[in-house]
Amino acid sequence: MDISMAALKGGVAKTTTAIHLAAFFHKHDETVLIDSDKNESALTWARLGSLPFPVCPLEGATKYIRKAVHVIIDTQARPTNSDLEAIAQGCDLLILPTTPKALDIDALIKTTDVLKELKANFKVLLTMVPPPRRRPSMRKVQPHLKEEKARFLLSQEEIPTFKGAIYQYTAFERSPLMGVTVDQYPDKYAKRAWDCYQKIGEEILNG
Ligand SMILES: Nc1ncnc2c1ncn2[C@@H]1O[C@H](COP(=O)(O)OP(=O)(O)OP(=O)(O)O)[C@@H](O)[C@H]1O
Ligand SMILES: [Mg+2]
Repeated sequence: MDISMAALKGGVAKTTTAIHLAAFFHKHDETVLIDSDKNESALTWARLGSLPFPVCPLEGATKYIRKAVHVIIDTQARPTNSDLEAIAQGCDLLILPTTPKALDIDALIKTTDVLKELKANFKVLLTMVPPPRRRPSMRKVQPHLKEEKARFLLSQEEIPTFKGAIYQYTAFERSPLMGVTVDQYPDKYAKRAWDCYQKIGEEILNG
């Protein structure tokens, strides 16, 4: 499967998502992550440590793509409409990460207008979401109000969105510095953080 990340806004967890989904898919089949961002964030992450899958720049990706069952592509922020069109047409699934902030959702809606016209297969992923909490009066864990509001805005616009969300954990900020995925980072929330991406990977595999 070929999966690309894209977003009008910077810093919405494109690279973090690309790295963790590549790790998820690599547990199933040979996977390569292509870093097509000039900032080389994914390549830097890989250079700092030991990721289990190859990360390569666009130039020279061919030999890895030939061997891979899954190709994950990280892109740079603020693509032009023609960039977005090329990205969307070159993959099976386009993931649009966004934080639940109203301004980020607003930028995202602009992106989806273009993608809807192109009839692209895209799905929004809520990232850096405050984790759900168990309120004293409630038996069940409740999603944070910010997540609920973001989901409401997205559903009003009929934008396809992953059921799972990526919660905000410090381990996500620290793991790139060690060049590892979050599950390898020594932190008591590491497993919960990894579970977020595992659920998204399963949602993708289960269609
Ligand atoms: N779930 C999360 N919880 C906490 N911090 C996160 C989470 N996801 C990403 N981050 C942090 O947020 C910052 C931006 O993430 P990332 O680099 O993945 O975004 P990006 O969209 O690729 O940015 P850019 O547009 O610069 O390429 C990083 O410092 C990253 O460690
Ligand atoms: Mg990035």
